[in-house]
This record gives sequence, C-alpha cells and structure tokens, in this order.
Amino acid sequence: MLIDSHAHIQLNQFNKDRDAVIERAHEAGVTTILIIGFDLETSLGAVELADNHENLFATVGMHPHDAKKLTPDVLNTFRELLNHPKVIALGEIGLDYYRNLSPPDIQKDAFEKQLDIAEEFEMPIIVHNRDAYMDILPILESRQGQIQGVLHCFTGDVELMQRSVEIGFHIGIGGIVTYPNAKEMQVVASKVPSDRLLIETDCPWLAPQFRRGKRNEPSYVRAVAEKIAELRNTSIETIGEITSNNFRSLFATD
Ligand code: NI
Repeated sequence: MLIDSHAHIQLNQFNKDRDAVIERAHEAGVTTILIIGFDLETSLGAVELADNHENLFATVGMHPHDAKKLTPDVLNTFRELLNHPKVIALGEIGLDYYRNLSPPDIQKDAFEKQLDIAEEFEMPIIVHNRDAYMDILPILESRQGQIQGVLHCFTGDVELMQRSVEIGFHIGIGGIVTYPNAKEMQVVASKVPSDRLLIETDCPWLAPQFRRGKRNEPSYVRAVAEKIAELRNTSIETIGEITSNNFRSLFATD
C-alpha cells in the first residue's frame, strides 16, 4: 500500500488520460492520492476531482510564485473550500527565492496570512521551499506547536532535516532521490525518522530516474518507495506501511 502525498493530476497535462492515470495508480498499489492546489484555479480543480473519486483528497492554497494574487476574495474562497470534507490541508504555500516570481516581502505576507488560516482551521500545511530555508524555518519555529505539516520535495541537508523534524514537521521525499547524483538527498532519505517520512511524486514534474524528463504520474511513487527501501535496508512494504500511517495520522483521513 502506497500513498502519493503530492500530485497535480488536476492539470491539463492529464486531460487526455486522467482516468487511466488514476487506474494505473490503483494497479500499482497507490491507494490514496493527495491533489495539491497552488492557486485559485488549481485549488478548485483539486477539490472537484477529489469530490468525484473516493480515494482522492485535495488541498487549497496560493503558491509563492503567485503570492500577489492572494486577494481578500481568494482568501475567502479558500476558507470556504477548507470546509469541504475532502480538503485535508492548506498548500502548497511557502517561499521561493530561486525563481522569485513574486517579491520576497509579498511572498512572506501571503505565507503568514495562509498560516493564520491553517491555525484557525487546525489544518496541516504543505510547504513549498526553494532556496528559502533561512526564512521559512524561523517562521515555522515561531508557530511551533500551533502548526503541523510537510516540507514537500525536501532538498535540504541532514541538519535542516533534523531542525524541521524538531519543530514538528514531516519530510516529503520525491523522485529526486532516485537520481544517481542526488547523494545528499539519499543520505537524508536514509535518516528521516520513521514517524516523519512521506513519499510523493509532485507529478507531472520530477519523474523518477526510469522516466526522467517525461511526464510523472502517481503510479511512479512506487519507484520512490523502492529507492528509499533500498537506502534504509528495508522492504518496500515497510516503507509503504510507515508512510501511509504517517499520512493518515498527519492528515486525519481515517
Ligand atoms: Ni507541487
């Protein structure tokens, strides 16, 4: 049993074969898929899809790239969507200083506003980070005990992983761990505490090595689980079990 904790199958890239993609995930043992919104349109798309499929769940949120689009109206829509039974987290939200598509101050403001909502609704968060740990971790530390979530597509070193775990966060490991040159990532994946590990695809992006450069999809989360099992000297069944348990306890989907 495997859970893809981060997928974007509401996007156009899946318009032609979305049902087949969901079916392939089932056949690969992927029992649950969390569909992640990153702006208003993709959040609405995630909720609609989750609404129509038993084993799909959704998140809503404004990505740092589009932080300037987080108007009061959009915030209100997110609040309404958070009451939907299939919406189980806020995200992806965070900071991105690599592409800097919104100015850092506006990114921080949008992040804080959405953290306030997450606290108010007692919802976990999906955190997007790129080159911004120096700002993200202090913000999360300042709310330690108030907020839980996952640092998705984690690419930091062991020290940052340990700091993130100490403040109560889970670590999402994706396809990058399967790349031969991702040595540091592999060390991190071998050391994440068992009760904080999650697996993800971030599809359609970041396909694992055997499909690198092609469109990614939830069934490929199996390759991520296999690689982590190898790194931790355990079986894929064990990785499936611990990551699925972690998912259900973090997102309260039982
Ligand atoms: Ni994503």
